[in-house]
Amino acid sequence: MHVKLTRELRFGLHEPAPEGAAGSANGFAGSPVLADVAPFLTLRAQLSGQIDAATGMLVNIKQVDRVLRQLAVPEIRRGHYYEKLGAGLLVQRAFERLQREFLPHKLVSLRLGLSPYLAMTVQEKEPNVVRVSERFEFSAAHRLHSAALSDGENREIFGRCNNLNGHGHNYELEVTVAGAPDAGSATVIPILELQKIVKERVIDVFDHKHLNLDCPEFRELNPTVENIAKVLYGKLKPGFTGPVKLLCVKVWETPKTCAEYGE
Ligand code: NI
Repeated sequence: MHVKLTRELRFGLHEPAPEGAAGSANGFAGSPVLADVAPFLTLRAQLSGQIDAATGMLVNIKQVDRVLRQLAVPEIRRGHYYEKLGAGLLVQRAFERLQREFLPHKLVSLRLGLSPYLAMTVQEKEPNVVRVSERFEFSAAHRLHSAALSDGENREIFGRCNNLNGHGHNYELEVTVAGAPDAGSATVIPILELQKIVKERVIDVFDHKHLNLDCPEFRELNPTVENIAKVLYGKLKPGFTGPVKLLCVKVWETPKTCAEYGE
């Protein structure tokens, strides 16, 4: 059995890096520190391996920070400022650079967060592929009610969520697609194209709707967060017919409840 450890480094993509920043802590201001207007990026490494019996750790997170800061951040900075590489290629290159740095542990994945809403990830099992994840929002009402259950059972199982006239949520949706970065443009998919597909196939269809009453997809289907994730995946899947594939969708009904559908 293996344990997986994930560590996030927050950094500013200053050019040149501020003096002494390499030694600063990986705090909320990031490292290199963000003391002024600067691109704020995150780099999330997931490692897998055996727990060290003496320390109880897979690997010391200080070492992870040091490796990310000394090897990956300069690589990303150089690629961005000098070679004008797209984010997909930046994360692929950083992954290659780091891949052997944590031996005997395995670098399972590396995720470059461009904003709280957009990230690029490379996984060890498919290093040629970049996964692009973007977050969206929509608001909708629903009533949890199953025709397969009695009214009493519905009240018992769904409680307040069975309220006759429904209730609302601000849903968050994360869509992940995957493909190889284009040799010319270095992008996996133009972000505006991704946004257009999600807008037309999901947001315009479900935003500000009562899912049970307004949306045929849920006329016979209980709009639980699990079913919503499944339906949204089915809506989005035919939108990606080219080399870029839809991998999965995640739907947050509340910050505490999330369903994922797909690979
Ligand atoms: Ni609800």
